[in-house]
Amino acid sequence: MSFGKTVTLSTGAKIPQIGLGTWLSKPNEVENAVEVAINVGYRHIDCAMIYQNQDEVGRALKKVIPSVVKREELFITTKLWNTSHKPELVEKELDESLKQLGLDYVDLFLIHWPVAFPPVPFGSNLEPDDPKRPGWAELDLETSLTDTWKAMIKLLDTGKVKTIGVSNFRPDLIQGIADATGVWPAVDQVEAHPLNLQDDLVEFCKKHNIHITAYSPLGNNMAGAPMLTEWPEVKEIAKKYNATPAQVLIAWGVKRGYSVIPKSVTPERIQSNFQQIEISDEDYEKLCELGRKNPKRYNVKTTYPPLWDINIFNDPLDINTAHQIKVV
Ligand SMILES: NC(=O)c1ccc[n+]([C@@H]2O[C@H](COP(=O)([O-])OP(=O)(O)OC[C@H]3O[C@@H](n4cnc5c(N)ncnc54)[C@H](OP(=O)(O)O)[C@@H]3O)[C@@H](O)[C@H]2O)c1
Repeated sequence: MSFGKTVTLSTGAKIPQIGLGTWLSKPNEVENAVEVAINVGYRHIDCAMIYQNQDEVGRALKKVIPSVVKREELFITTKLWNTSHKPELVEKELDESLKQLGLDYVDLFLIHWPVAFPPVPFGSNLEPDDPKRPGWAELDLETSLTDTWKAMIKLLDTGKVKTIGVSNFRPDLIQGIADATGVWPAVDQVEAHPLNLQDDLVEFCKKHNIHITAYSPLGNNMAGAPMLTEWPEVKEIAKKYNATPAQVLIAWGVKRGYSVIPKSVTPERIQSNFQQIEISDEDYEKLCELGRKNPKRYNVKTTYPPLWDINIFNDPLDINTAHQIKVV
């Protein structure tokens, strides 16, 4: 069985280039999805506290470790939610994630967004993203990214995380936390597909040896825009390779050096998404051209409520809001 290509991170760890996304997997779907994925060769699973399904992912992991795979052969990512940015909460939330996943450590721990919300007590009977919860999407403008990043750095000594990184960070935010601490994130996980090229970010990350993981690689969104798998230009390229549109989009990300984490709960798609194809330079360029003509970011915090009233990406694809991120 092929386990696919890997990319070596600045820490020396190897991240498998295709992983399974788990966001929006409905209850009782993700356990099966993870089990199917590992059985067809996936070794990289992308999780987060806010997906509220890590206990199900954990149940699947329990079924496959060690009968199908050894723990050390897997690459498991999880992410710190916005309500746990205060330094004293960072390790606590990680411990909660480890408990849910049934693991002693994660391979990669990311700050999910460069945005802090006021803390919510664990065990609150309202889910962290329940709009009825007081304070949902309120901003904590006191806690800086550097405060949180310092707490992330301390985790490296606990053995509970192998590598630390960030998600949805623009270059100046990464530069800010690196300048303040001397420690660079090994990974930035961002929305990345042919419509969202982010050449500046790609160049910045290359220069500082930061690996990019591409989320929403198929153009998934909560705003009802057509997914990229439906675009005629993508379908046409797929036909040429006798491949699926999803395989073409994944190949595009792999060619750019990203790791790519398509989400699916459909066994046939989980399997076909993992079958890597290679696209020609010409087709790669054709796909980039789509983004040069129609740049789009699907996951903007105004495309679905509630609005996060803070400037996250600071580019024409985002909106301008009242507040700025506090870096130091
Ligand atoms: N760091 C962040 O802020 C962040 C944000 C968003 C996502 N993520 C991570 O990235 C992962 C992937 O992103 P995403 O879930 O937003 O979107 P995505 O992977 O681009 O798209 C997922 C959607 O595509 C469908 N799909 C999967 N394979 C397909 C195929 N071969 N043909 C057609 N449709 C297919 C899935 O349906 P079925 O499941 O029904 O098959 C699902 O509706 C997430 O699950 C999450 O782990 C991270």
